[in-house]
Amino acid sequence: MIKQPKRLIVTGGAGFVGSHLCDRLLARGDEVLCVDNFYTSSKRNVQHMLRNPNFELIRHDVTFPLYLEADEIFHLACPAAPIHYQRDPVQTLKTSVHGSINILGLAKRLKIRVLQTSTSEVYGDPEVHPQTEDYWGNVNPIGIRACYDEGKRAAETLFFDYHRQHGVQVKVARIFNTYGPRMHVNDGRVVSNFIVQALRGLPITLYGDGLQTRSFCYVDDLVDGLVRLMDSPADFTGPVNLGNPNEMTIRELAEMVVELCSSKSEIVYRPLPSDDPKQRKPDIRLAKKNLHWQPEVSLRDGLQKTIAYFDTILTRRPETARRTIALSSEVDTGSREENASKQKARALF
Ligand SMILES: NC(=O)c1ccc[n+]([C@@H]2O[C@H](COP(=O)([O-])OP(=O)(O)OC[C@H]3O[C@@H](n4cnc5c(N)ncnc54)[C@H](O)[C@@H]3O)[C@@H](O)[C@H]2O)c1
Repeated sequence: MIKQPKRLIVTGGAGFVGSHLCDRLLARGDEVLCVDNFYTSSKRNVQHMLRNPNFELIRHDVTFPLYLEADEIFHLACPAAPIHYQRDPVQTLKTSVHGSINILGLAKRLKIRVLQTSTSEVYGDPEVHPQTEDYWGNVNPIGIRACYDEGKRAAETLFFDYHRQHGVQVKVARIFNTYGPRMHVNDGRVVSNFIVQALRGLPITLYGDGLQTRSFCYVDDLVDGLVRLMDSPADFTGPVNLGNPNEMTIRELAEMVVELCSSKSEIVYRPLPSDDPKQRKPDIRLAKKNLHWQPEVSLRDGLQKTIAYFDTILTRRPETARRTIALSSEVDTGSREENASKQKARALF
């Protein structure tokens, strides 16, 4: 039987994850309506799709209602890096809350499935390791990260209330640290920071002793998980963790990046913010069981592809590199508490 192509809305489709998702959906023959206001992205990420007749780019801010016809919605629109979401915290919260209400309203009207890209940040500074989906989290509701963490938590609440109250078919993915080509060069996260520093031959900044652990998922693996979740049976709503459970220390990551970049950068140590999580790791048993999904790409392979992308970007746009370096070695100018929070925000990613 020939599979009918679907028309799929991808909000935030010009972003890092969204643009890879659009690529994947087009490759399998679907039509994609990419909705984005370019708050943290640019057309460059989707430039190569613009000539594809199955691809349509719509500039729109999801905090305003939208009226489109489609078969399913992948809802990704939201700034994701601390530097981005803390720039205008009120707008970040509006994007999560008003944006979800608008997208859920559209799904309700069209009677279609909608998938929310939630985050491991709903677990806050977790007291449970690794994090399972039934853990309710430990989030500070009034801190500088709350606009994102609490926004995503409120969005999850909205998804499940629209499901219970209005029968909307929802899917909720809790995404853990993801990296890959088209990441923002200047988002201050650990993978992009290390790669930029190594490629420019600058010192690699490590917070603390570098023995805190993280796990990183390559973007192709994540996209595969999102597609499987959307296609899963209606009674499987999630929330489901999508991330790579292979832990490594931040120091090991730094050393691997230096080696793969053939860089001469030295590793320098900076004080660790006091409440930096020692460990962050998803429990992915639910995704394995219900989606038959687990990450396949090794960190070494994923980093090689990411480094090749950054190398091209930095060669083409050296001014971006300079801005990034300024950010990563930024002198904090706020109060001690604010500076510690800023440092923490940088160290966490
Ligand atoms: N990358 C990760 O490691 C990660 C981890 C957890 C969750 N997520 C979630 O995945 C989604 C995509 O993240 P990403 O890393 O690709 O981030 P990104 O910043 O690259 O992409 C977000 C996209 O949303 C768009 N956007 C922001 N506000 C909007 C608005 N009001 N209206 C329309 N478009 C808007 C941005 O312009 C951008 O294109 C986000 O919802 C994020 O919270 C990502």
